[in-house]
Order: sequence, then structure tokens, then C-alpha cells
Amino acid sequence: MKKILTIIGARPQFIKSVLISRALEEESLSCCLKEITVNTGQHYDANMAGVFFSELNIKQPDYDLSLGGVSALSQISAMTKLLEEIFDKERPDLAIVYGDTNSTLAGAISAVKSKVRLAHVEAGLRSFDKSMPEEVNRILTDHITSIFFCPTKIAVENLKKENIINGVYFTGDIMFELVMKSLNIAREKSGIMRSLGLQPKEYFLATVHRESNTDTRKNIDSIISSFGDLNKKVIFPIHPRAKKMLQMFGLIKKLENMDNVKVIEPVGYLDMILLENNAAKILTDSGGVQKEAYFLKVPCVTLRENTEWVETLEGGWNVLTGADSEKIVQSAGLSREMPPQKNYYGDGDTSSRIAQILKKEIC
Ligand code: UD1
Ligand code: UDP
Repeated sequence: MKKILTIIGARPQFIKSVLISRALEEESLSCCLKEITVNTGQHYDANMAGVFFSELNIKQPDYDLSLGGVSALSQISAMTKLLEEIFDKERPDLAIVYGDTNSTLAGAISAVKSKVRLAHVEAGLRSFDKSMPEEVNRILTDHITSIFFCPTKIAVENLKKENIINGVYFTGDIMFELVMKSLNIAREKSGIMRSLGLQPKEYFLATVHRESNTDTRKNIDSIISSFGDLNKKVIFPIHPRAKKMLQMFGLIKKLENMDNVKVIEPVGYLDMILLENNAAKILTDSGGVQKEAYFLKVPCVTLRENTEWVETLEGGWNVLTGADSEKIVQSAGLSREMPPQKNYYGDGDTSSRIAQILKKEIC
């Protein structure tokens, strides 16, 4: 029996793991392979975690570490301590980590120190901005990974520039595959458009959670002020981090008093992709939401100075405004014919490609 230990813990990781876990289960029929899952609990509210397990049929984790809501270092050290025990007990043949969060880094360090080969899904992404905690997590993780699953060719190039060549696979983007497989299901099952009284293309959709935006009063104030100045309704599923900081800065009332802004709790995946698909534009600092905007051909305004998803900038499908309210309002208001897109994110078969490579590597 070959064992794979998967470490997830934050909202985007639950989403990214769905199809790969399913594909591994299919591969397990022809090769004696078992996936064991650890949820670090970095995200823990029902609408940041549990909702994805139920609506996307993610199998319940074998281990729940419940390590959310503390500082990065406390979190990483507590995670590695518990993960060491799990690695000792399970003796897996390989570990998988996803993306660029604290759970990614903790999982990566724990695997390598337990002498277990590490696979990284979403390897090779770079924003070239080390002030972002995620950029540091990505670089550190990639430099101790053995098997690299790159969503784009630029990610492969980024690794090459850091002398990482062996074990690198271009697999396409796992979130692209999931959106393509889920949009019709969302159209069928989600009642979010009706419940919010929305008409397609008559609103903007916004999300904000980056530390550089939420934890600086000036930036979060500038971002929400721009929302209030937009000429369309803004649907704003608020990330708990943004909510906490807006409350702390005394800005939550200002936001709630804006006539055109509808603040809602974070929504499930199917509701979210339907809201994205029907939005006139998306304003976000999320990595995943920027990509989904591109996949769904919805123009995006990215509330950051840089992006690791540089392909989305081509043809103006995505524009970078940082937290500058003038630039945000101007970019959101711009309306023009959009050029055709290129296919940068693979053929929608990323999960089976990854599962087959993993099977070849360990079975
Ligand atoms: C984390 C990731 C980020 C990712 C994002 C996805 C790191 C360094 N950051 O950022 O890369 O884009 O998740 O959403 O790992 N909180 C709750 N309930 C929850 C989750 C969070 O109240 O379910 C609040 C807590 O006060 C917590 C704060 O949000 O301290 C920040 O959470 P944390 O997981 O540390 O970072 P995110 O900003 O969510
Ligand atoms: N998402 C969601 N509900 C929300 C906001 C986002 O399901 O209220 C999904 C979104 O569709 C995408 C993923 O969460 O698939 C992106 O995660 P997030 O923005 O938290 O993190 P990032 O991608 O920036 O790491």
C-alpha cells in the first residue's frame, strides 16, 4: 500500500484539492494507493471551510488540527509540531501541499524534515514581491519540493530561473478545470442571483483579504471609499480578516452606510462562481478570484501593485490599481470591447495529469 499525505487548511486549498483527491481515488483502483488528508484548520468558520466540504463532496479529513486564528509563526510552529507526529505515525510515501499559505509552508517543512518526498501544486508562481507573506511561502516551499505541478508555462520558466529543472511538470491550472466542470452545476443549483435580487452584468463583485490591504487603515479605507464611488451596485462577500480590520479601524459603519454596496458573508463556491460569471467586473486582491475572472471572461480590477498571474494582464482583461481609489474607480468605469483570450491554463485535465504523474512516481 502506497500512502499520500495531503495537507490543506485554507479556503482556496479546499477548493484546489477537490478534483485531485477525486482523481487519486480513481487511480487507487489500479494501484494500491491511499490518500490521507490533514486539515490544519487555518480557516475554520463554517463559511470559510465546512461549506466547501459539504457542497463539493470533499471527503472528511483524517486529521483536523484546528490551528486557525493565531499569528503566522505561532501557526506554522504549532502545525509542524502536530504534523511531525502524523508523519511519524503514517509514514507516507509522498506529501502534497497546495498554493502559498502558512499551511503550505508548514506542510512542506514537515514533509522534508520527515524525509518524505514533497509535491507542490501551483509551483513556480512569483509576484517578485517579498513583502507578501505568500511570496516567501512559495519560494521556500519550491526550494524544498521534489515534484512541481506548474499551472502555467511562465511558472515553469520562473523555476528554471531559480535553477529548478528536475521534476517540473506543466499540468495546467486546477482551478480552471474546476470552474469549467462546475459552472453549469452552479447555474442549476445556486439561488444567489435571485436571493440578492441581481440581474446579470448590472453589478460589480468585490473581495478583499490581502494583508497589505486589510491591515493598513489608509489602504482599506481607500478601497472601500472607491466602492462607494462606483456607478454600479457592489456585492462584497467579506473575508473575516477584512471584517475584523474594518471593525478595528472603526470603518465598518462607513462601509455599511454606502447605498450601492451590499456586504454579505463569504459565500460557497457555486454561489461565488455564479456571482463572478454574472458580474460586469470583478474587483479583487485574491489570486484565485483574479484567475476565475479571466476563465469566465469577466474583466478584473486587481487591488494590488503586482500579480503572480501575469497572463491575465494581457489584453487588459486584468488591470492593477493597488489600493489607489482614483485608479480603482477609473478602471472599474472603463468600458470597451475586450480582445480574444489565449489558452494559458491547460486543457481542463489537470487533475488526471497530476494523479497519473503521482502514480508513476510512487507506485
Ligand atoms: C490566508 C493566506 C492567503 C490566502 C487566504 C485565502 C497566509 C499567509 N495567508 O490569508 O495566502 O490568500 O488565506 O483566503 O497563509 N479568520 C476568521 N475565520 C476564518 C479564517 C480567518 O475569523 O475562518 C480571521 C482570523 O482573525 C485570522 C485572520 O482572519 O487571524 C487571518 O486569517 P489567516 O488564515 O491568518 O490569513 P488570511 O488573511 O485568511
Ligand atoms: N471564494 C468563495 N467564496 C467567497 C470568496 C471566494 O468560494 O466568498 C472562492 C473563489 O471562488 C476562489 C477561492 O475562493 O475559488 C479563492 O480563495 P481566496 O480568495 O480566499 O484566496 P486566494 O485565492 O487569494 O489565495
